[in-house]
Amino acid sequence: MDAYAQMHTYERIPPTEADTRDALNESLNSQLQLPRTAFRLAITILPQDRMRGIVKLSRQWEAIREWEVGWAVHPEEWGKGYATEAAWQVMDYAFRELSVHRIVAFCHADNRASVRVMEKLGMHQDGRLRETRWLNGMWWDEYVYGVLEREWK
Ligand SMILES: CC(C)(COP(=O)(O)OP(=O)(O)OC[C@H]1O[C@@H](n2cnc3c(N)ncnc32)[C@H](O)[C@@H]1OP(=O)(O)O)[C@@H](O)C(=O)NCCC(=O)NCCS
Repeated sequence: MDAYAQMHTYERIPPTEADTRDALNESLNSQLQLPRTAFRLAITILPQDRMRGIVKLSRQWEAIREWEVGWAVHPEEWGKGYATEAAWQVMDYAFRELSVHRIVAFCHADNRASVRVMEKLGMHQDGRLRETRWLNGMWWDEYVYGVLEREWK
């Protein structure tokens, strides 16, 4: 399977320009609220400093101080450690500065690259959620991984 096919097997099909504009507006608005509970950061690579991916961090459940992390990297840059490095930086920031108790991440159960990123980040597989994703006309399972503040080094 080529990189684009793989991406669209595990994630949504490419959004339209209007969808993208709406998502960006919603994202920018959510990031203006204080205290900040959503971060969408670009992964850039020096010296060109071009955007090559994103890493997201958002609060999911205030009462238990649970946040969610997510990532995507341009296919030309896969396998160079960028998703792991970017996620590690935002997770470290979250545990140090945002008083986070638990960080979770979700992925399509067949997404081996994303599972590997979670493993490299020291996250534990907390469960397999059955048929929680509707994609390409089918139901798919997903994994939820988590790491606790006392486990983070
Ligand atoms: C998942 C994704 C973000 C990983 O980005 P990346 O920068 O390549 O990640 P890293 O280089 O930090 O680590 C990837 C790891 O997965 C491994 N990997 C890649 N494809 C794999 C496969 N098919 N099977 C097993 N392992 C695989 C790599 O070898 C690497 O592990 P290693 O360091 O032990 O060799 C990237 O593939 C992507 O953007 N995919 C499309 C979007 C997506 O799936 N986002 C995640 C949603 S949950």
